[in-house]
Amino acid sequence: MKFLVMNGVNLNLTGKREKGVYGTATLDEINEKIAAFCKANGDSVEFYQSNIEGELVNKLHEGYLQRSYDGIIFNAGAFTHYSYALRDAIAAIDIPVAEVHMSNVHAREEFRHKSVLSEVCKGVVCGFGAASYISAIVGLKS
Ligand code: DQA
Repeated sequence: MKFLVMNGVNLNLTGKREKGVYGTATLDEINEKIAAFCKANGDSVEFYQSNIEGELVNKLHEGYLQRSYDGIIFNAGAFTHYSYALRDAIAAIDIPVAEVHMSNVHAREEFRHKSVLSEVCKGVVCGFGAASYISAIVGLKS
């Protein structure tokens, strides 16, 4: 299968920001682990990160229009909690999208308990750090 792992706002600082919450592994290190997992399973994977909502929307559209991926693993960061634009983009495409969070958003501040994306995603994984991404890939493959 062909996967896209997409990270949104502030995720480029993973490993450097709020280490107690998100750990010390950088996004590149996490992506290396994901790439190794996909390779071992005969799957291909691409990575994309942007802090800009519209660029994330464009990437979803491109993947859909060019039929590039069988599944998308998406950590939208704080956009999760309020971006109706990303929600509509996910609803617009017929590629299954898995919502991912490294932290357990339900054990944190109240504003993080609400996701405007979950309803249009195939599934949601949170709380397992880098393993959240890998669990979502397992879910999309099943
Ligand atoms: C996050 C959780 C979000 O609430 C937060 O805004 C992030 C990261 C996570 O991976 O745990 O930036 O998506």
